[in-house]
Amino acid sequence: MSHRIRRAISDDIPTIAEIGYEAFKVYGRPDIREHSQHIAESSWSFFYMMEDEVGPVAQAMVLPHTIQVGKCTILKADVGHVAVRPERQGEGLGSHLMEELMRLLPGEGFHCTRLGGLMKFYRRFGYEPFPRRYVQFEVQPLDAELRGVRWAEKLGLSPELQARVRPYDPHGDHAAVGELLSQYNAGRPGRLVESRGTPAPEGTAPDPLTLVYEVEGVIRGYLQGNLGPVHAGQPPTYQVIDFALDYGYPEAGEALLKTFLRQAATVAPTTVTCRLPYEERLFDLLNAATLQFDVLEMRGGFDGNMMQVLDLAGMLQAIAPELSARLQAAGCCPWEGTLGLRIPRHEATLNICADTVTAGPAVLPGSPVIEITHATVLKWVLGLCGAAEFPHLMEHLAGPQRIVLSILFPRLPAASGVWG
Ligand SMILES: CC(C)(COP(=O)(O)OP(=O)(O)OC[C@H]1O[C@@H](n2cnc3c(N)ncnc32)[C@H](O)[C@@H]1OP(=O)(O)O)[C@@H](O)C(=O)NCCC(=O)NCCS
Repeated sequence: MSHRIRRAISDDIPTIAEIGYEAFKVYGRPDIREHSQHIAESSWSFFYMMEDEVGPVAQAMVLPHTIQVGKCTILKADVGHVAVRPERQGEGLGSHLMEELMRLLPGEGFHCTRLGGLMKFYRRFGYEPFPRRYVQFEVQPLDAELRGVRWAEKLGLSPELQARVRPYDPHGDHAAVGELLSQYNAGRPGRLVESRGTPAPEGTAPDPLTLVYEVEGVIRGYLQGNLGPVHAGQPPTYQVIDFALDYGYPEAGEALLKTFLRQAATVAPTTVTCRLPYEERLFDLLNAATLQFDVLEMRGGFDGNMMQVLDLAGMLQAIAPELSARLQAAGCCPWEGTLGLRIPRHEATLNICADTVTAGPAVLPGSPVIEITHATVLKWVLGLCGAAEFPHLMEHLAGPQRIVLSILFPRLPAASGVWG
């Protein structure tokens, strides 16, 4: 029997809801029927359907995520809700769907793809384990003590600071917070580029978990909180899902986080998981305000986050203006020439000429070549790790070639979230 894959149409909504419900009900989520219906109604246009002569047998959702890399962007396909009708599982349909998706997504402009799942299965389609990053704050009940200091005191603020924190007004603060988020995240690699939409209607009730820090009528800090599961199937906990501050008002970070952590203390002991950027400047500022936290990088090897490159040359071309800007900012170009990059199933070349970097599709004969994994090149592109952290991959390169790579791919204060 032959199978074809196609984009979903709105007529597929009942089928998407039904396949989703039937495939995922085994995991015991109590509201799985409503959840599948909601996903089908709200996101049907992102689904791909695989069908045989009888009709759809399998489906997957592909969300397009534009990710910032300095002044450039790359496009990621976020794959989820992979499901095969239960009576047809184990026949190879899920594998066929994934193989077909990997074949067609590069043609739709995607540079890379991410998913979370059982690694044994998804490795077959080229995905590699990829980190996830969080910042976690431990919170104890406010009357508990740590080395003689009550948590209420540890998380307390002066009346002056406290008066500057208030709930975010989804109507009145929309534009100012949008501006603050853009300034705080300007050029930040790994940040999702998204439209913040239009402001909520006037009079919309504020969400008490989303806070702003305001000085003389100007918003200098923002914290978007949430109460929900960190990973699917986990009980809800307090989380910070977005954050920004104006470094001219460094106390904004302390004021917002302490206020939020005191709210979380109502369910203490608990751990508050935050999607903060991995930014030393922010970490030092929070430590100076007596806050302590763990910077957590999860490295799943069995079940977890995975990524792969879909179009290496296209991805490097997309970020070439940013790579050129890095070379220009370095003020020197220690080496000029073409450098080949090989990852499983793909190759590309970087042309480095004075202060300009361009990318091409094939390794040129005689060029030095670095052979790396999909995960490594993505860590470089997203600024999660610097090329210099992989000396074993560059042993065969000349010193100036290694320095050029270190200039092009440094570790940067990357955002966390959209890639893992
Ligand atoms: C996972 C799923 C999409 C695989 O589709 P399928 O048509 O059954 O898969 P295939 O016949 O191509 O391959 C079967 C492989 O999938 C593996 N598999 C089964 N359940 C899986 C799961 N939840 N996640 C990943 N792989 C799974 C099987 O172990 C089997 O591996 P094997 O070849 O080593 O024995 C399908 O079983 C399904 O819809 N499951 C319920 C929903 C789900 O868990 N989706 C994945 C979320 S990450």
